[in-house]
Amino acid sequence: MHIDTRSKMSTLTLDGLGALLQGFGTNPIPTAQGLPDACVLSRPVDIYRVYLADILTKLAGCEPALAYDAIQTSSTLANGDLTIPVPRLRLKGKKPADQCADFAANFPADHRLFQMPNAAGIHLPIFVTSHSLGRLILPYVFQRQNSYGKNPHVGLGDPSAGHPGRRRVIVEFSSPNIAKEFHAGHLRSTIIGAFISNLYESMGWDVIKVNYLGDWGKQFGLLAVGWQRFGSEEELAREPLKHLLDVYARINALFKPEQDESKKARDEGRDTSEIESRGLFAERNSYFRRMEDGDAEAVALWRRFRDISIERYISTYTRLNITFDEYSGESQVQSSTVETVERILKEKGVYEEHNGSWIIDFKKHNAKALDIAVVRGRTGTTTYLLRDVAAVLERENKYAFDKMIYVVSSEQDLYFQRVFKVLELMGRADLAARLQHVNFGKVIGMSSRLGNVKLLGDILDQTGEAMHEVMRRNATKYAQVPDPEAVADVVGISAVMVQDMSGKRVNNYPFDIARMTSFEGDTGPYLQYCHARLNSILRKAGLTRDDIAKHVEDHPTALETETDKRHCIDLLRLMAQYPDVTATALRNLEPSTILTYLFRLAHQLSSSYDVIQVTGTNEGRDVMLARAALYEGVRQVLENGMKLLGITPVERM
Ligand code: ARG
Repeated sequence: MHIDTRSKMSTLTLDGLGALLQGFGTNPIPTAQGLPDACVLSRPVDIYRVYLADILTKLAGCEPALAYDAIQTSSTLANGDLTIPVPRLRLKGKKPADQCADFAANFPADHRLFQMPNAAGIHLPIFVTSHSLGRLILPYVFQRQNSYGKNPHVGLGDPSAGHPGRRRVIVEFSSPNIAKEFHAGHLRSTIIGAFISNLYESMGWDVIKVNYLGDWGKQFGLLAVGWQRFGSEEELAREPLKHLLDVYARINALFKPEQDESKKARDEGRDTSEIESRGLFAERNSYFRRMEDGDAEAVALWRRFRDISIERYISTYTRLNITFDEYSGESQVQSSTVETVERILKEKGVYEEHNGSWIIDFKKHNAKALDIAVVRGRTGTTTYLLRDVAAVLERENKYAFDKMIYVVSSEQDLYFQRVFKVLELMGRADLAARLQHVNFGKVIGMSSRLGNVKLLGDILDQTGEAMHEVMRRNATKYAQVPDPEAVADVVGISAVMVQDMSGKRVNNYPFDIARMTSFEGDTGPYLQYCHARLNSILRKAGLTRDDIAKHVEDHPTALETETDKRHCIDLLRLMAQYPDVTATALRNLEPSTILTYLFRLAHQLSSSYDVIQVTGTNEGRDVMLARAALYEGVRQVLENGMKLLGITPVERM
């Protein structure tokens, strides 16, 4: 590789970035003042922040770190790029509004990065210059491409704090139950969990993705009993997940009257042990007992069910581009660990025997809302709770994680509070502090709208088909799409995902196939369409991505003549924000943070097409290339955002 002035202007190093900035007339980057949160090599807005903090430090006579922290991002472009709520500078003396007016009056004139600000009450809104945006942002995006928005530095812990090198997070998600329906809760966990894994990965963490299958418990006793009555080897080989569901449903129907009888007795305060000592109750319990005792035959049957199911799950997750590092599950928890947990609970005096079961009465331990939980059942078998607590200890040993995230429906809020509290009661508050339950609300009416659909594959098939129908309605376009079925499948999946990730996680939302597959509104197909349209602009101009990348590299000021256009500048301003948006998402773990941003970008884009035209103008090749570069930059940001969310952008549609 030859060294020339261009590579000295690389935005990828501090020296190069400094040279680029000084090239358009700024002072050297004020990095000497120790702003640990500033990542000028990952987030372009941070470049503006460090310069602005420097100005503020001088204007207000405060500490650089305080000035830096006071700078906020504006909520809309119309309110500026950054804003300083003056009270955040905690200055004594003058009223904030007067101080703000002073800052505006004394702001350095002709700054290369900032326009002269006007005070707005106690806020000082800051607009960056089009001059700087035009020269900085495209090279910044083009030199990073797929890495724009990522930040390998964030996950690197402070070595002095005992975290040498990369930090490790376990993300546990999806976690369906074998022989049971893959319900909306599992769908959301899968979508949100994959996003969270991608996000941590992109921020330099070592991510371990775990699928904690519901593959143990009395229901497996019942399934085995059902298998003896209704099982078919042929069906199992053909459609294992469906067949197991079916067997379970049939035996469960026979079991229901017994369960009802027991429930009634319990509600009336009668003893249920007699009822549960006969019939399917007894068969189920004794089978599960055999499993827990390690009986070879019982375990072998269970293992077959488990292995076949995992094999099928893997192929369905592939459709979503999801892989797991570990298929663990409730069954994988060692009894020795379970015993350790129980021993500690006894030692700490929090484990109580009650009517043959072992319980924790959280009310006695400063956690009234957690009430009482059964930890080991009356028949002597482990519970979901006991297995989960033991699994934490095992994962700590195996992975030495810095953080572990459970992506599970908010229906299990109380449950996870209990898991964490049990660890505290065991004297492991340190461990509990590293755990986080990332919850989410319900999907209303998914099963009723999809009919008799109980598996992930079926959900994806149905939305793919619905998408195919919608695409077919536009015959001309449809004819141009190569392999429309495959495209419909991918776009259908984006439809489901975007609908799921549009709102805050905790919100419930209605499952609405017509709406999610529509090209109108903020939907997955619309997002895909925006991305595909950007591709087609390049295609029509006869340009490749390489042509454009080279042009940006050779003509860093290419957008010079374009930056007097509002639309062009606003697109650059939005593009500059993307790495800030991913940083926010890492804090709140809300996919909607990314999605809301992508739709803002998409809307800005659709209002720009008429104004910023690539082909069909007589403004010459340089202008064409500069505009094409702008669109290609936006496309790159869209692609990065979509992939972060787990959506595969299609080239054409
Ligand atoms: N299999 C469980 C269910 O379907 C979800 C498991 C959540 N994870 C956990 N560690 N408990 O409800």
